[in-house]
Amino acid sequence: MNISKIVWFNGKYVVKNKATVPITTHAIHYGTSVFEGIRAYWNYNNLYIFRLDDHISRFRNSGKFYSITLKFSNLEIKNAIINLCIKNKMKNSCYIRPVYFIGDYGINLHVTNKAPTHVGIFMFPMNDLFDKNGITACISSWRKFDDSCLFPLAKMGGNYLNSILATQESKRNGYDEAILLDSQCNVSESPGENIFVIKNKCITTPPLSSSALDGITRDSVIKLSRNMGYTTIEKKITRSELYLSDEIFLTGTAAEITPIIKIDNQNIGDGKSGKITKELMSKYNKITMGKDKKFYDWVTKVY
Ligand SMILES: Cc1ncc(COP(=O)(O)O)c(C=O)c1O
Repeated sequence: MNISKIVWFNGKYVVKNKATVPITTHAIHYGTSVFEGIRAYWNYNNLYIFRLDDHISRFRNSGKFYSITLKFSNLEIKNAIINLCIKNKMKNSCYIRPVYFIGDYGINLHVTNKAPTHVGIFMFPMNDLFDKNGITACISSWRKFDDSCLFPLAKMGGNYLNSILATQESKRNGYDEAILLDSQCNVSESPGENIFVIKNKCITTPPLSSSALDGITRDSVIKLSRNMGYTTIEKKITRSELYLSDEIFLTGTAAEITPIIKIDNQNIGDGKSGKITKELMSKYNKITMGKDKKFYDWVTKVY
């Protein structure tokens, strides 16, 4: 990860080694951080940030669950992200990571909106996260936490310990990725991606009540696939439905659309990336590059 030289920290553009915090920082001890993952796409002519306003809305909303306030307006964050791309002369597809977190607050667990916060944004060039020809996955022995323990809709630092456990287990067992079931034993999502299942040309994805994050790529794929004429629905999905499906793919800012070709060593469909998945990948790619007029309002031009 080659982080760009300039970062944005508490309202200022500074070189990255000047953006530091003390070891007493609350977020280091208790996971009280809120973050986003955003992609920008270089199409050899301009840089396009994908669904920037939607990412910033979720960024603010994630903190609300824990009374952690983002002390900059959405417009200030938006301008900071655009200007950071410009200051870093970014002419590569890249990943943008905004984060805010509780600073010096002692060992106090009574977090209120009075707790001091820091806000930072950094970026780095990024290509494919996964092999786009398809990856293998296993059903994790870890369940996705539900609303009885933590908020699945919050993109909070502490929540990701669950994702880390599932990822460690999948890698240890030789798989590329994990799939977590929810507390009711239905399919939830992957450690950092939502999941879609296709059977008889019908596209399904677990509802948010299966403890899935309200993914922005998930929403894009639901809208895009319906626009292409497919029936796409949110419904509870069982583990057995996965094994008998025609195609499965993951969605996420980092993963984009990634086919799953094997689960627990069993082929999905014919064990290759499926036809509908490929069609969606190709459309999604065009949209993110600002090359589809119908979805042009999903991208923000930088230069
Ligand atoms: C747990 C989890 N689920 C799903 C996603 C996909 O969300 P998005 O498409 O907004 O990146 C992510 C990544 O942000 C995630 O961390």
